[in-house]
Order: sequence, then structure tokens, then C-alpha cells
Amino acid sequence: MMTDDNGRAAAELKQETLQLARDYLFPQRIDLMGQLGVDLVIGRREGYRMWDLDGRELLDFHLNGGTYNLGHRHPALLAVLQDSLAHADVGNHHFANPERARLAQHLAAVTGLQFSVFTPSGAEANDVAIKSARRYTGRRKIVALEQGYHGRSGLSGAAGNPDSARAFNSDYPGEFVTVPFNDAGAMEQALAGGDVAAVLMETIPATAGFPLPDEDYLPAVRELCDRYGTLYIADEVQTGLGRTGRLWAVEQWGVKPDILITGKGLSGGLYPVSAAVLSAEVGGWLADDGWGYVSTFGGAQPGCAVGCKALEICADPATLDNVGTIADYLRTGLEDIRNRRPFLSDIQQCGLVIGLRFDAPDGGMRMTGALYQHGLWAMFASFDPAVLQFKPGLLVDRAYCDEALQRLDDALASLQGAG
Ligand SMILES: Cc1ncc(COP(=O)(O)O)c(C=O)c1O
Repeated sequence: MMTDDNGRAAAELKQETLQLARDYLFPQRIDLMGQLGVDLVIGRREGYRMWDLDGRELLDFHLNGGTYNLGHRHPALLAVLQDSLAHADVGNHHFANPERARLAQHLAAVTGLQFSVFTPSGAEANDVAIKSARRYTGRRKIVALEQGYHGRSGLSGAAGNPDSARAFNSDYPGEFVTVPFNDAGAMEQALAGGDVAAVLMETIPATAGFPLPDEDYLPAVRELCDRYGTLYIADEVQTGLGRTGRLWAVEQWGVKPDILITGKGLSGGLYPVSAAVLSAEVGGWLADDGWGYVSTFGGAQPGCAVGCKALEICADPATLDNVGTIADYLRTGLEDIRNRRPFLSDIQQCGLVIGLRFDAPDGGMRMTGALYQHGLWAMFASFDPAVLQFKPGLLVDRAYCDEALQRLDDALASLQGAG
């Protein structure tokens, strides 16, 4: 328990932090969250729970997009990081280090691809993927989904939903093209000119609230890519690392990409690491041009050490089994709630990739606020605010799910009560 003095100090620190954030970080973010009644400044965090500096407990159903798939401060990952920092630092980016080499070997084994290029962020990994595809094919054009999100760096930011790139006058009309999700005809039209270097796709688009691909959509895209000499880049930053019950979501549809992007959860939420994993052919430039891509912090030794352990835990059959068990358990509970509370209009689910659709254009947004008041943190989908991203961790148990379902039910009741 916090003593009163500690409590007062924490409450003051929280207000000071919010004021500094409004003054020096991102005023609009603070204001929008404030309108939803969310004034979170995260203090203690452990497993799948976190506490606001003012003491409010929250079940974490956002997990920073899957960064905390294995929970906050997972003890085994923390031990690996501490051990690494006891003898190493970030390393020198011109050289291999044992952890970097081992993580690359492991990623090759679990993707069937060959080379890993490590970056600090998922956005930069997508940049590497785009550049590799352009170099390999000699083409420039990139096709992505209208509601795709691949990060906010230069090239990744230009792919998918164009609003942010346009706002920064950093879009590349003609070079970056979008097509609607689940429309193989539109994809064929976009590729038929034979001038597209790559299709860049989230397997289940997260920022659009996890709409599921039709059964034959992803295999059709793979086939179109093969037909028109285009590479398939699977952005598995949110859907990979076990979240669907398979290590990579593309496996659910039997698709093998030419490049796979992973990030977020690979870091265990402890030390930034992301990767573009390239086929031997597409990564052939690494054999000719060892400095074709350089990043001081990409492949930093502690991050790769944590990444090895995180990948091992995510790929463990016991973890993947738990995902299946918990996915079924949650489905039953969610359906029960939907039957009683029609504001929850649809459950979009593949394993623990879950989007909850509500019966109002801003329904997901309203639920973000209501759930916050009831002790659960989940975020609306930015590209479709009717939907709430509902992301449980890979290692949760039934008792934790029961708590979460109760809080969801209570939050829905409070909204119904408010009319
Ligand atoms: C699907 C997807 N790709 C790429 C990214 C970018 O990752 P990062 O924020 O590490 O740059 C994100 C981040 O949310 C993402 O959801």
C-alpha cells in the first residue's frame, strides 16, 4: 500500500507529467484522451496489470500493440536483459555479436526465410523491406491496403493509409498505391501493369480493428504476386509471435511471404528490437553490399538477447496451446455478453487477435473511456473508431479472463445506463 505521503507525491507527479506532456510532447493526444476521461500516467506494471500513478488498477488489453504479449516485465526476459547488461552494452553495429547471430538463425528457422536485418522499430523494418523489394525487382511501386498501418517513418509512413504522410507533405503519389482489403480484383488491377515491387500487408489489419481476411484472400494475393513478379511482404508486427495460435498469422492461410516483418513483442517490452526477415534471393544484396543498411541501434546486443528468449517462449507449443484455449474461453464469454448487450454488435476474432465492434460510429472510442473507468485498458481502432482492439496476453489464464469479461460487462452496462 502507498502511504498518504507517497500517494500525494504520486498524484502530484502525475499532474506535473500531464502538464509537461501538454507543453512539450503531444498536446492533442493529451486533450483527446482527456475527452475520453483517460488521464493515464503508468506507474507500477507487472504481468498483465498496470497501475496509474494515482493508484487505479488496469487490466492491460492493449499491450502496446503486442509489445507486452508475454506480460510486463516478464521475469525470464528481465533476467536475460540484466544478465546481458552485466557484461555487454549495445555492441558495435559494424560487427556480429553472439545474440544477434543466434536470433537471426532462430528467425530463419521459424520463418523458412534466410537473412535478418535488425532495426530499433517496426517502421524501420518496413523501410528495409520496401528498399529490399525495390532493389531486388528494379521496380518502385508499392501496393498496400487503404487501412494498412506500417509505422511513421519515411517509406513505411507513405505505405497504406495516406493521411499522415500527406499531412507532412511526405507522400509519394504514384509510387505508393492503396487498394481495399479483401478485394482480390482490385489487387489484380493494381499488379497487372507488372510495375509493382511489393505488396505490403498486415495479415489482419490492426489499426482498422482486425477485420478478418476472407478464406481465399491471402492465398489469392500470394498467387497474384507470383503471377506479376511482385514480392509479398507480411507485416506481422501485431499479428505474429503466436497471437493467432500460430507463430505467424500468415500460417493460418498457408501463405509464405518473401519478407516477414516482426517487432513489438520481440522486444519483450524491455529493449527495442524489430526485424525484416528476407528470403535468400531478396536479401541477396547483403552478400554484395554489407553496409547497404546500417543502424547504430539495430541489432543491439541486449535487445537480441531478449529477442532470443521472447521468440523461444512465443514459439513454445505450450504457449500456442494456451492461446487456443484462452481464445475459445473468451469467445464463449464474449458471445454471452453480446447476447445480453446488443451494443456489442460483432466479434472479429482469430485466436487472441480480437476486434469488438459496437453499434455506433464512435462505439469503440466510447468503450475505451468506459472500460478505463472500470479498470481495463483497451484502445479503439484509429481507422475505424466503431471497433475496440481487445488484445489479451498470450499467457493469461481463465481467472484473469473472468475479471476482464466482468469489467467489459460492467462498462457496457454503464453506457446503457447513460443511454
Ligand atoms: C502492423 C504494424 N506495423 C508496423 C508498426 C510500426 O512499428 P513501430 O511503432 O515499432 O515503428 C506498427 C506499430 O503499431 C504496426 O502496428
